[in-house]
Amino acid sequence: MIPLFKVHYPKGIGKKIEKVFSQGFIGEGRYSRLFEKKFSEYIGNPNCVLLNSCTSAISLALLLCGVQAEDEVISSPMTCMATNEPAYNIGAKLVWSDIDPETGNIDPEDAERKITRKTKAILAVHWAGQPFDISRIIRIAKKHSLKVIEDAAHALDATYKGKKIGNHGDFVCFSFQAVKHLTTVDGGALACKEKKDSQRARLLRWFGIDRETKGNKWSYDIKECGYKFHMNNINAVIGLEQMKHIRNITSCHKYNSAYYDRNITNPKIKKIRRSKDSQTSSWIYSLLVDNRDKFKKYLADNGIASDMVHVRNDKYSVFKKFRADLPNLDYFSSRLINIPSGWWLSKKDLAKIVKVINNY
Ligand SMILES: Cc1ncc(COP(=O)(O)O)c(C=O)c1O
Repeated sequence: MIPLFKVHYPKGIGKKIEKVFSQGFIGEGRYSRLFEKKFSEYIGNPNCVLLNSCTSAISLALLLCGVQAEDEVISSPMTCMATNEPAYNIGAKLVWSDIDPETGNIDPEDAERKITRKTKAILAVHWAGQPFDISRIIRIAKKHSLKVIEDAAHALDATYKGKKIGNHGDFVCFSFQAVKHLTTVDGGALACKEKKDSQRARLLRWFGIDRETKGNKWSYDIKECGYKFHMNNINAVIGLEQMKHIRNITSCHKYNSAYYDRNITNPKIKKIRRSKDSQTSSWIYSLLVDNRDKFKKYLADNGIASDMVHVRNDKYSVFKKFRADLPNLDYFSSRLINIPSGWWLSKKDLAKIVKVINNY
């Protein structure tokens, strides 16, 4: 079976981990700082804060936007629960925006329609690694004095208007979870637009304590309670090793995605609409097809793994009270199926996948 996901495993990583253990300091330390620096340089945004997950990044972003209980956050249900649970846990109201049925991304028009006096932020996902219409969302947010949080868990190395994702919205949340482009086993980062937000995030990620303080840090005051959201040296050293391969990894995803865009021609299968403003990093490759279960079985019978990957969040009873009419989401989510597009695909795999799909 050609897998939908594969863990990238750099040779010699075991020795690097052993070295950190032998040095005797496995908590947050020099490797965490170095990885944060390298990742910031890679994204091109000096205000990146290293964390233990994308979920933590979203939680901090909401806090830095000032979202509190009873405030409203506009978001799309077409994502991982990790996007939406942090707002729920604060006690905020999730206001569902419909999506663009040809991309799976937030529909800016519907998002704007849903703004009220209680709205604090627009939270939007770059579905499968293809950037949403960031300029329009930022324009809308500015007009209504709102903040923009980008969930970029799928979108490392995707670009929008010539710049890498991580340089547009107020807060951009990355994931280094097991099967993401760059894995540290678990991990994440928050890229902030403003330096002052990144400084506050660095305190909040570790109980509000300033780890950069010289001398006895226990004698300093804690002005704001934080969390245990930091990344330790072990995850960070894995991240540093993965960084050596990341350009190659995401180039493969992009190449494979462009190959599918050109070569999948079956009229029964809808592909995602691309935009000249952006380049997808294609964490997965989404297709829309009637009778998805039949198609999924057909792919499996031909040795190709596929999946929905994420289930529309509004269907879960925990979010029952936020339900809304979302016709484009109904269309998209009932047809969505994702096929592999990662670095592990050989030329032969790609040709086979295209042939199988075109013969359906
Ligand atoms: C869109 C999206 N957001 C957030 C997350 C959560 O990432 P993490 O596991 O790093 O918290 C995921 C994980 O799959 C995701 O797909």
